[in-house]
Amino acid sequence: MSTTLAKRLEVVQPSATLAVSARAAALKAQGKTVYGFGVGEPDFNTPAHICEAAKAAIDKGAHRYTAVSGTPELKKAIAEDSVRRRGVPCEPSQIVVGVGAKHVLFNLALALYEPGDEVVIPAPYWVSYPEQVRLCGAEPVIVETREEDGFRVSANMLKNALSPRTKAVILCTPSNPTGSAYPEAEMRAICEVMADTDAWLIVDEIYASLVYDGFKHVSALTLSRARERVIVVDGVSKTYAMTGWRIGWSITPPHVAKVLDIVQSQSTTNATAIAQAAAVAALTGTQEPVEAMRKRFESRRNLIVERLNAIPGVKCRTPEGAFYAFADFRALLGKQGLANDLDIAKYLLEESGCAAVPGSAFGAPGYLRFSYATSEETIEAGLAAARAAVEKLG
Ligand SMILES: Cc1ncc(COP(=O)(O)O)c(C=O)c1O
Repeated sequence: MSTTLAKRLEVVQPSATLAVSARAAALKAQGKTVYGFGVGEPDFNTPAHICEAAKAAIDKGAHRYTAVSGTPELKKAIAEDSVRRRGVPCEPSQIVVGVGAKHVLFNLALALYEPGDEVVIPAPYWVSYPEQVRLCGAEPVIVETREEDGFRVSANMLKNALSPRTKAVILCTPSNPTGSAYPEAEMRAICEVMADTDAWLIVDEIYASLVYDGFKHVSALTLSRARERVIVVDGVSKTYAMTGWRIGWSITPPHVAKVLDIVQSQSTTNATAIAQAAAVAALTGTQEPVEAMRKRFESRRNLIVERLNAIPGVKCRTPEGAFYAFADFRALLGKQGLANDLDIAKYLLEESGCAAVPGSAFGAPGYLRFSYATSEETIEAGLAAARAAVEKLG
């Protein structure tokens, strides 16, 4: 008999992004001004026609369990959306809808990773990728990328990281936390490398609609000659400002979808019926609100990158997509006892009210991630306060 906790938890870290927002919330509760650049979710409301569809679904009786992998209407809408955006066939039998893309990635981890497996993840990475791999007893293999290379892994770097134990490679484009996105030629080269292996290429495309300056996102599913080993993860959270509705999905070969269905049938069963109806409206209704939000994000990106680069010692590349600016704060290290990016994030929060996330949470020490999914006023005032705090360091 034993009441010890499972050993698998010893290797898992809590979400650092949420830790910063908790501290920011505590300061706010004390009446301090806080500029929240921490959590990554659009500050816009879900478009009205999507909310109306959810209300109508309640009235029409969407009160019961649905099929585990999603309602036929939603899977059809996702398949059609994928064909439109990726230009390759996609059938409802390839789709499993989960409770957000994070849950979908977790289902995938349970279905694919075992002790002894390696999963290649370029850094800076989204915090959940390595933790989910570890939770399944597998080993994340982190490949460091450089800012000069746009924080992107090259086909060659990837090749060198592969081993006979590689089970999967996870790419995120556009990326959380850097906002970098893979141009078509680079993604094609990566797909070529992966096509000659028998490992999975998992692409997280949750930010694919949020690209700027005319950048063209081209899916690995479109480019690969080994589509049977490409897995796409996507969802409505970021594109449609629907983080709270919790709808995401995977597109996999049908035999994998069947296994994911089994995994999910033993945990959440289905995603909420009402939220699924809302997601149908999101995918099949007007896309005008998406374009309006994208434009706002683009102008905020321009503003925040300019303001970050105006802070003495701070450098920030212009990201192609998502809603994050990933800034190099290493020039501040050593000033007034600031030993690492955690110290810098804490200093900025306490001194200026700016809540950004330390880069070490994403495998990139010395950097800070600023989410610009917040108002222009917050960006203006917060970055002015951050600048003043940095100038105080001398
Ligand atoms: C890269 C990336 N993938 C997946 C997710 C999860 O999104 P969802 O809200 O659909 O769970 C996030 C959310 O922050 C993300 O940044």
